[in-house]
Amino acid sequence: MTLPLDDLRSAVGAEHVLVDADLTRSYESDWTGRFSGRAGCVVRPSSTAEVSEVLRICDAAGVPVVVQGGNTGLVGGGIPAGGEVLLSLTRLDSLGEVDVAAAQVSAGAGVTLSSLQAAARAAGLDFGVDLAARDSATVGGLVATNAGGIRVLRYGSMRAQLLGAEAVLADGSVVSRMAGLAKDGTGYDLVSLLCGSEGTLGVVTAVRLRLVPRVTARCVALLALSSTQAAVDLLPGLRDRLPSLAGAELVFADGIALVRKHSGLPAPFDEEHPAYLLLECADRVDPTDALVEAVSSAEGLLDARVASDAAGQRALWAYREQHTEAINAEGVPVKLDVSVPLRSLPSLVAALPETVRAVAPDARLVVFGHVHEGNLHVNVLDAGPLDEEVTDAVLRLVASLSGSISSEHGVGRAKVEWLGLSRSATEIAAMRAIKDALDPRGTLNPGVLLP
Ligand code: MLT
Ligand code: ZN
Repeated sequence: MTLPLDDLRSAVGAEHVLVDADLTRSYESDWTGRFSGRAGCVVRPSSTAEVSEVLRICDAAGVPVVVQGGNTGLVGGGIPAGGEVLLSLTRLDSLGEVDVAAAQVSAGAGVTLSSLQAAARAAGLDFGVDLAARDSATVGGLVATNAGGIRVLRYGSMRAQLLGAEAVLADGSVVSRMAGLAKDGTGYDLVSLLCGSEGTLGVVTAVRLRLVPRVTARCVALLALSSTQAAVDLLPGLRDRLPSLAGAELVFADGIALVRKHSGLPAPFDEEHPAYLLLECADRVDPTDALVEAVSSAEGLLDARVASDAAGQRALWAYREQHTEAINAEGVPVKLDVSVPLRSLPSLVAALPETVRAVAPDARLVVFGHVHEGNLHVNVLDAGPLDEEVTDAVLRLVASLSGSISSEHGVGRAKVEWLGLSRSATEIAAMRAIKDALDPRGTLNPGVLLP
């Protein structure tokens, strides 16, 4: 495949077309070390107009394009398979002024989540999505994967924050819906369609986002519970009694042990317990009393720690947020991100060890997740050459429980083969028809999401 390098250099400036392996390397593998591939070149546009020109050139030349944001993805969706133009959006980092009256802001695809949060907070508001990779994850990637994170229970996923977007289609044409209309009944919702399309339908270059009220009085509790079932049983009552509930995260003893091994954190309790539920409440007035009252008579409660001060809250969150790094410090894991109907979550947790052991007897399983959404992050270490078998066994178990093979990380390259476990043939055909209509030459992210 001949790359149109001269045309790309004219489009974005020669210094933003990288071909030297030393310069392209950091774009060509993900941070977990699981996915890697050579790009034909890396192109770094700085505006929607430049993205449009790059796509027009590549589409006309029949050169496939892989789109990348902060490269924090976990399913290989932004990593080249080999030879593509890698379109890095990190230079699209302009952040508009916060519109306080409308509680909205416009952000370029390359703005990091933490910069967006800081801008919203400086204006007395906040952004509804939060996740541990906030310092590197970019708005474009969050939209492409319809990212969830730790506040979905309160504010929903990325799609729920989207009021508009600007996107470039495969042939270079631009769709711009950035007025921030809170209501718009004029037909197909293209912005929602682009969200979660993993860069296969268009390249989102900017978005108009909804902001939420800023609540700074927080309380975090780590509950030791007798079982996953006890955690699930607690949730409806907590939702009813605690309008301030902002997060509910599930972790287990082996995950906490791994976090402690790599962080040096002390044990949270005197003894290990079957399950742990981390709760956060956020309100305008201190929610500590309400949280303590709501959980104190909980069935299956074995122990608890409550933190009303910021340092204590960070310390409790560390047991949860450091899971990802601690797991990766042990080796390259098979990372699966699944969801099941909440009532089936205890069955999934119970069945996983045997399911994994049956195909990879030496593998180590570490699970944690966003309990309210029935979203479990299934990490398998030491699977060796059996990673496909492990993936297959776990995803089939999830499908048997009417679950989704991808809850919030996307399908990427990692799970394409298993899409049919979560989507019917009719649905996949409909998705394929949309893809073919918007990207007839298959320029955008080939091999990602759709088989
Ligand atoms: C998380 O919830 O921490 C993220 O989805 C990352 C992960 O699954 O490792
Ligand atoms: Zn997650």
